[in-house]
Amino acid sequence: MSHAEDNEGTRRDFLYYATAGAGAVTAGAAIWPLVNQMNPSADVQALSSIIVDVSGVEVGTQISVMFLGKPVFIRRRTQEEIDEARAVDLAELPDQLDRNANKPGLDASDENRTLDDAGEWLVMMGVCTHLGCVPLGDGAGEFNGWFCPCHGSHYDTAGRIRKGPAPENLPVPTAEFIDATTIQLG
Ligand code: FES
Repeated sequence: MSHAEDNEGTRRDFLYYATAGAGAVTAGAAIWPLVNQMNPSADVQALSSIIVDVSGVEVGTQISVMFLGKPVFIRRRTQEEIDEARAVDLAELPDQLDRNANKPGLDASDENRTLDDAGEWLVMMGVCTHLGCVPLGDGAGEFNGWFCPCHGSHYDTAGRIRKGPAPENLPVPTAEFIDATTIQLG
């Protein structure tokens, strides 16, 4: 391969990733200044919000987006994953708090961690609560959820810590559906 072809390949790779990222996330900055004029108290909040189009997320898959400098996992769970998470006896959980910014102070039942009542959508910070690595997803680990390989923390299909050194469930950030296929973070 010539040097020129080599460069071309590298550029194509870069464009692919850049486009994929742009498709998943739309910065809220373009929209929110209009809101700010009507509601000054929303000013700080506006700058820390992003809007994510999840219309392309198939059942059984997830996307990762960057929010406030950290990865956020948005997973559309299968019925099997939902059933598995909802069948867990809460007494078995090392961390029994929900860690959900939207429903603070509740227990770590699957119902208290998911974005919708049916439990199809799970939104979590993709940051291991041990030392901050990014766990692997898509059914990883002994509990079919996420696995952090650096020190061996296993999270279940609701993102709750089940085994290993991580002390807490993966935190759920402030998030809501603003229409059927759009999630706002922050
Ligand atoms: S940072 Fe995840 S197990 Fe250590």
